[in-house]
Amino acid sequence: MALTEAEKLITPDWMVHGSIYTDPDVFAAEQDEIFRHTWLFVAHESQLQNRGDYVTTYAGTQPVIVTRGSDDGAYHVLLNRCRHRGAAVCQSEEGNAAFFRCAYHGWTYTNTGELRGITYDQGYEGLDRSKLGLTRMPRVDSFAGFVFASFDEDGPTLMEHLGHAAPYLELVAAQGPDGIRLSAGSHQIAYDGNWKLQVENTIDNYHFGFVHRSFLEVLADRIGSPPPIIKNILTNEEWRTLDLGNGHSVHEFGDPKTGNNQGQLGDLPFNLIIFPNLCFVGAQLRHVLPKAADRTEVRLYPMLHEGESEAFNASILRTHEGFYGPAGMGGSDDVEVAFDRVSDGMRASEQDWLVMSRGLHREQAEPDGRIVGRADDEVPQRAFYRQWIRSVSREEIVR
Ligand code: FES
Ligand code: FE
Repeated sequence: MALTEAEKLITPDWMVHGSIYTDPDVFAAEQDEIFRHTWLFVAHESQLQNRGDYVTTYAGTQPVIVTRGSDDGAYHVLLNRCRHRGAAVCQSEEGNAAFFRCAYHGWTYTNTGELRGITYDQGYEGLDRSKLGLTRMPRVDSFAGFVFASFDEDGPTLMEHLGHAAPYLELVAAQGPDGIRLSAGSHQIAYDGNWKLQVENTIDNYHFGFVHRSFLEVLADRIGSPPPIIKNILTNEEWRTLDLGNGHSVHEFGDPKTGNNQGQLGDLPFNLIIFPNLCFVGAQLRHVLPKAADRTEVRLYPMLHEGESEAFNASILRTHEGFYGPAGMGGSDDVEVAFDRVSDGMRASEQDWLVMSRGLHREQAEPDGRIVGRADDEVPQRAFYRQWIRSVSREEIVR
């Protein structure tokens, strides 16, 4: 279902209607028009190194199993939903298995999705097993180690979708001497608010000095002087935000190849959003999972460097935990202020308009279509919603 009047939710001067975060009809349109059509991140190749490896995750709200086929070694993305009466056939987050056996009545599927076994099948007459395999996402592709899938058989290729964001994904992949790996697993947060709040917060440099003040004070205490982060975000002309097209955006801390974040081991020199729900911040991959208009889960994976020492990777983990972990100083601040308090505010003022125009007057279009703004501008938010409005109103996707 497309939103026929979606363009009324965002004005030309970038006032955004609060109902985009609260209205179940908007959420349903997002699932139908964005998540059922665009490319969705589902896994990283380091999680699927051997034939039979699998991970379970979500494509939009749909539970899926991403497998490496035992027979063909290819990636398959299967709906985690038994064709008998609908139970999830795989309960684990990851593992290695040639078959998935449904816990309800024992039907068995291969890891490429074929229905292999029906328990006590004498009770059925005329069932065509060849038509009762696990439903697959028809298109699966990978780039720089990141595996994506789409429910849509047609539409832009993965490379067309990634566009100007592709070189940044390559830089993420090139962080370690031999690439990156997600072998440390993830920790997860959930909040009673909309999924877009977490995506928007990924590159919102305007909030950093307020929400994360206590973190900055601890940092200042450790290094003996106030960290330069805030001054740099607000005044550093070399740091910039870019609308990369197709909903993607980046915040560059200087040169994306050589610049550095806060000098923390393993941190990327940029923050990156891949539309609609894959984000990179510091040394972390963030997978945002919409559950309902007012419910979101987020999986946070520290990216370890393949080919580095145990000690190096251990310190990436400690840094990750210190800011984003359950007892960290950053993630909990964002959950409280950027998600919980915003969601409370939305419930109180659903009909109000919100402001997303910061830096609109000073953003510049490049000849190649990218739009450049300053580090603290709301360029990434506008990048996201330019694609969002095209998608939910079912306009032609701009390639
Ligand atoms: Fe899976 Fe019955 S629901 S075997
Ligand atoms: Fe934050």
